[in-house]
Amino acid sequence: MSVAPVKVLVIDDERPVLMTLEALLQRRGFAVQTAGSGAAGMQAFRRSKPDVVLLDLGLPDADGLDVLRELRAEDAHVQVLILTANDSLANATQSIKLGAFHFISKPYAAEELLSLMGRALEQRSLQRETLVLREERAYLSKRLAEVEERSKPIFQSRPMRQIDDLLDRLAPTDANVLLLGESGVGKEVLAAQVHSRSRRNAAPFIKLNCAAFPANMIEAELFGYVRGAFTGAVIDFPGMLSEAKSGTLFLDEIAEMPPELQARFLRVLQEREYRPLGSTRVVKADFRLVAATNRPVAEALRSGALRQDLYYRLNTFQIEIPPLRERREDIPALVKRFVAQFSERHGLTSPSVSPEALERLHAYHWPGNIRELQNTVEYAVILAESNMIGLKQLPAELQVSPALRVAVGPIDHSGSLEATERQAILAALTESRGNKKRAAEVLGIQRPTLYAKLRKYGIRNQLGKSSEDA
Ligand SMILES: Nc1ncnc2c1ncn2[C@@H]1O[C@H](COP(=O)(O)OP(=O)(O)OP(=O)(O)O)[C@@H](O)[C@H]1O
Ligand SMILES: [Mg+2]
Repeated sequence: MSVAPVKVLVIDDERPVLMTLEALLQRRGFAVQTAGSGAAGMQAFRRSKPDVVLLDLGLPDADGLDVLRELRAEDAHVQVLILTANDSLANATQSIKLGAFHFISKPYAAEELLSLMGRALEQRSLQRETLVLREERAYLSKRLAEVEERSKPIFQSRPMRQIDDLLDRLAPTDANVLLLGESGVGKEVLAAQVHSRSRRNAAPFIKLNCAAFPANMIEAELFGYVRGAFTGAVIDFPGMLSEAKSGTLFLDEIAEMPPELQARFLRVLQEREYRPLGSTRVVKADFRLVAATNRPVAEALRSGALRQDLYYRLNTFQIEIPPLRERREDIPALVKRFVAQFSERHGLTSPSVSPEALERLHAYHWPGNIRELQNTVEYAVILAESNMIGLKQLPAELQVSPALRVAVGPIDHSGSLEATERQAILAALTESRGNKKRAAEVLGIQRPTLYAKLRKYGIRNQLGKSSEDA
């Protein structure tokens, strides 16, 4: 807060009035300016920008009300106190309508005047605070929008834009959603989107990864238990169904849930109530369900990993998130996002990505999908040289050109024969998007030979299993 004295401007044509007011206010610590006419008053006002104006309505050169209008037009927050003779009460009332703070009739009592001054100043600082608060709020909501913008998932490609639109329509409903897609395509991200775009977004988003818990623990985690329900249950535990109350429950890797438990969970979906382990009390279930699996559904149903009856409950809305290699238009935007994100996280200046590097990132088949791209970019951001991500900063699999010519053409012959062979195999696999049958054709070798070489160079693990390969 400023400690500068409060500035007061007194506009009155009667010199004695001016002089006594000046003396009175100065003694109370105000910085006082005086003016004997409307014109001089406006001039002084523009020059010194006072906090409070004492204005006489009966000025020789101007209508006091006009001066008031002008003052308020210059500064909507200035507090104007009207000095008026008893006979012009109508004008005084009019002045309030024009935004004067108060009026006081001459001859005035000093105490009354000073107390009005105090109130006028209070009013002014309140207005200022409101203004500051409003500015702060505008600033915060802008920052929030920026942060949201930076963390909003990228939906650039056509299939992802379609999913984005679909989410807008189904998220606000209470329909179950089943998300399908390879590892790392963004199932969890989309599950969180369903929640944040839903009417339940003020309540919790609770995630349970069924692959991360042994069977008996999933049951306890989900349903909760009462003390003494089993050995080790030393306190009551509410469980995730209860934690997700009014919110969203995300069951990840649902096909890893033991079938008996799937049956029990299905009953919760049907009956909308359940009993915690060891409890006699029935609890209402109030959650929206989003489930996910990275297993191909047909296979999971065939093998019995996913129960048919549960599946039919889940698939009200089934969203198949395509692998990254089938929506490469997302790659540049994702790269840009991850470069910014990891530079910030590691306190580095954001490097640029060379056109060749971007081309490789764009062409690679990304068996680990967005997660693999994210890791690749993080690594490259840290290793960037001269603020640039070039080919050198990309992992070995991306060093080889996606174009077929590399397999036969300009390979680095300074390396060993084995290194060259390995590069050629990677190039062929990249070209065939991981399809080993085609890669073998490209290389002109038999499939078993290719498999032997993949094992020899440990390539199989890096590229993962290709679905086209089955
Ligand atoms: N559309 C997107 N925009 C930006 N980042 C994304 C997007 N989708 C996924 N990601 C990021 O990619 C990574 C993998 O996403 P996520 O964990 O949602 O995938 P997943 O399908 O659940 O993978 P998994 O099957 O391995 O659990 C996360 O770090 C996530 O932030
Ligand atoms: Mg996941």
